[in-house]
Amino acid sequence: MPVMGQQNEAVRSQAIPLCKGIERKEDNMRFFIDTANVDEIREANDMGIIAGVTTNPSLIAKEGRDYATVLKEITDIVDGPISGEVKATTVDAEGMIKEGREIAALHKNMVVKIPMTAEGLKAIKTLSSEGIHTNCTLVFTANQALLAARAGATYVSPFLGRLDDISTPGYELIEEIAQIFENYPDIDTQIIAASVRSPLHVTQCAMAGADIATVPYKVIMQMIHHPLTDEGIVKFQKDYRAVFGD
Ligand code: G3P
Repeated sequence: MPVMGQQNEAVRSQAIPLCKGIERKEDNMRFFIDTANVDEIREANDMGIIAGVTTNPSLIAKEGRDYATVLKEITDIVDGPISGEVKATTVDAEGMIKEGREIAALHKNMVVKIPMTAEGLKAIKTLSSEGIHTNCTLVFTANQALLAARAGATYVSPFLGRLDDISTPGYELIEEIAQIFENYPDIDTQIIAASVRSPLHVTQCAMAGADIATVPYKVIMQMIHHPLTDEGIVKFQKDYRAVFGD
């Protein structure tokens, strides 16, 4: 199982200095799809635009299918990090560790999603020390993200949409975390911008320096379409047909 730190070290060593002298990793922002619906995942994967998948208890419940079966199916579709969360009803470190090991055993690409709690940090510490990739979720402050990084989390998932819902600019949280992580090269935890609700959110995440945006299928489709693109296609077709027919 590749060690995330080594991968990031390689990337960071080729960092491209910006005009302000702030180095950034060579990676541009990657997309994960935020769903447990295998049809949506297959469609997005066929477009070649996703590098991974995130799920959560609500998304799994929405599909109403066996948890392990769904995760296994997803690992057969996408060859990238697949986040599966511990049961929402498991709140102690021991239980999260036990479930985390079971999730990790499903496939080499599995990432164990764990909520930002004291017990969750204990579980992240233990699972990370065993080489299991973890994704600390339900993050709403830069301090929570920093604690998760220090516990050894492979990823942190700040929820920008739910902050917007309470009139707090979610993208500013992404900016804060990105700046803090940039300040300390020993932090190789990656930022997955989550709770993405619109194409504008995606742009904001890229501008703010997120490593990854995990995007619902609906938002992916909204990102693709533009009325002027659609209008242009119609005009090209009309002009072509006028001369060459179908
Ligand atoms: O991955 C977390 C994401 O699914 C939460 O999104 O829209 O329920 O805040 P939302």
